[in-house]
Amino acid sequence: MNRFDLIRILADGELHSGADLAEHFQVSRTAVWKHIESLDELGLVCERIQSQGYRLERPLGLLDPSTIQQQLEASGEDVDLVVLNEVDSTNRFLSDRIRQHSSKSTVCLAEYQTGGRGRRGKQWVSPFGANLYFSMLHRFDISTSQMLGLSLVVGVAVIRLLRSMGCSDVGLKWPNDVLYKQKKLGGILIEVSGETGGPCQAVVGIGLNVDMPPNAEIDQAWSDLNAALDTVVDRNALAAGLIAELNIAFGVFSQHGLAAFRDEWSQLDVLNGQELTIDMGTQKFMGCGRGVANDGSLLVEIDGVVKPFSSGDVTVRRVM
Ligand code: BTN
Repeated sequence: MNRFDLIRILADGELHSGADLAEHFQVSRTAVWKHIESLDELGLVCERIQSQGYRLERPLGLLDPSTIQQQLEASGEDVDLVVLNEVDSTNRFLSDRIRQHSSKSTVCLAEYQTGGRGRRGKQWVSPFGANLYFSMLHRFDISTSQMLGLSLVVGVAVIRLLRSMGCSDVGLKWPNDVLYKQKKLGGILIEVSGETGGPCQAVVGIGLNVDMPPNAEIDQAWSDLNAALDTVVDRNALAAGLIAELNIAFGVFSQHGLAAFRDEWSQLDVLNGQELTIDMGTQKFMGCGRGVANDGSLLVEIDGVVKPFSSGDVTVRRVM
């Protein structure tokens, strides 16, 4: 027995006595208690009710590889799927497998990331069972320079999925923050390797907030899908839907590049027409958002001249 076996029993949110759990797993009640104590580290709150037992504060709908596979087969998707209880980072897991990678895509999902990676070296808060931590390793038969727009394309694919689920008021903040009512709903982190002239391998990492605990320590305004849709979102269906949308978008991107997505992207662009500050670390620029170029860089009008930015931290300036 390990703590993940215990979580599978407690996931229903019902009360389970220490004696029943100990009997079920053929271990002592002290062993059960020790595992319960360790759930805290995973971001799970487990209540202990005197003389009655243990109960998770919030029930969990866990990831189930066979359910995801069934949904993928029904929609004709063919990927290798890896579902983990715990990993440092799903992106790192797949990056380590690039050399063994066949032409078939691999998807890695985890219930919990100990070192979830965000953009610009930030940590991605990844409590157990709460959200979607998703990475897809995909091979593109195009050159590395053509890959620059991929993160924008992935943003569009995510928004298509969210809209198909009934989520409106969603947008994209360059390069790839997924927003709901201007609050962060998800993020995208892409790592590309390969020959300059192609082919390339991309690890496309997507974090989507589904049922983030209210006390999560996140340094910006955020939202989650359960709140946005006012329902309990099924993460298995969400994962299968994401794979299908990405496969469609990857096919179009490989053939036609970012140009095929630019119009859709500009309709979702929350920075367009806004007064912006672009922080490049050593230098700051101020100007007005003017959409994106065909290579995926952000276009900003500064003193009447439109300039491309391929990196930088962008914030909207409040004009007094
Ligand atoms: C961002 O900072 O906005 C990008 C966040 C990307 C997070 C996802 S979660 C799944 C995948 N694994 C990681 O370590 N990071 C990405």
